[in-house]
Amino acid sequence: MATPHVLLLSLLCTLLVSWGDAACAEVDSDTEAVAGRGFKLGCISCKRRSEVDSTSTVEWFFRPKGEVEFVHIYTYNEYGQNIEDDQFLDRVDWNGSKTSNDIQDASIYLLNVTFNDSGTYRCLFNRRLLYGRYEYDTNVIKLVHLTVVAKATRGTASIVSEVMMYVSIIGLQVWLLIEMIYCYRKIAAAGEEALREAAKNQTQNLPPKC
Ligand SMILES: *[C@@H]1O[C@H](CO)[C@@H](O)[C@H](O)[C@H]1NC(C)=O
Ligand SMILES: *[C@@H]1O[C@H](CO)[C@@H](O)[C@H](O)[C@H]1NC(C)=O
Ligand SMILES: *[C@@H]1O[C@H](CO)[C@@H](O)[C@H](O)[C@H]1NC(C)=O
Repeated sequence: MATPHVLLLSLLCTLLVSWGDAACAEVDSDTEAVAGRGFKLGCISCKRRSEVDSTSTVEWFFRPKGEVEFVHIYTYNEYGQNIEDDQFLDRVDWNGSKTSNDIQDASIYLLNVTFNDSGTYRCLFNRRLLYGRYEYDTNVIKLVHLTVVAKATRGTASIVSEVMMYVSIIGLQVWLLIEMIYCYRKIAAAGEEALREAAKNQTQNLPPKC
């Protein structure tokens, strides 16, 4: 009877295949950068059908906080990268897909973030899908709203929940220890009592459950 094995194997295969498809995940970018440090502006656009070949170019735009217009700051295409705006000169590095023109990850890395980098970033994929002799152009746009802070902040809620976690873990252990000591004493006392009773009455008492 090989049936269970076959079933298990096909289940495993299904899992592996779906896992392979999920290799590209559209994770949202972080949105809080620390002044003076580097920051990765994330932008991922997975292809709907991974088996179709495509070539992509990527452009990034920036709208400073309080402004209305986006300015073109960065291009990545088959010739490599180009920084288009003086504010970002020598401060941007490609952090996206490296091995092919079939870009799904268009993330860039900002060096030495300043407060002037606060604002909205727009990442634009120009993707050309190649179906044999046919070509089909698509665009994908993603936005990142970046806040620059002097120091990394943590939400109060996360601090409170971490403290509560430690308190409850320690509290539980102490309670467990007290309970164990109490129980041990009770059993020991009951045992002695039972022995004395047994010696007197010649009857056997079981120690009570704790
Ligand atoms: C992104 O680029 C920066 C600067 O070149 C580098 O330090 C960092 O390791 C890169 N990160 C990834 C995930 O490629
Ligand atoms: C970034 O900061 C480091 C250390 O403060 C400095 O050495 C480097 O020259 C800076 N890079 C740019 C592009 O400003
Ligand atoms: C930020 O912008 C202001 C106004 O445009 C400018 O005076 C200042 O030098 C900039 N600061 C940095 C660190 O680029």
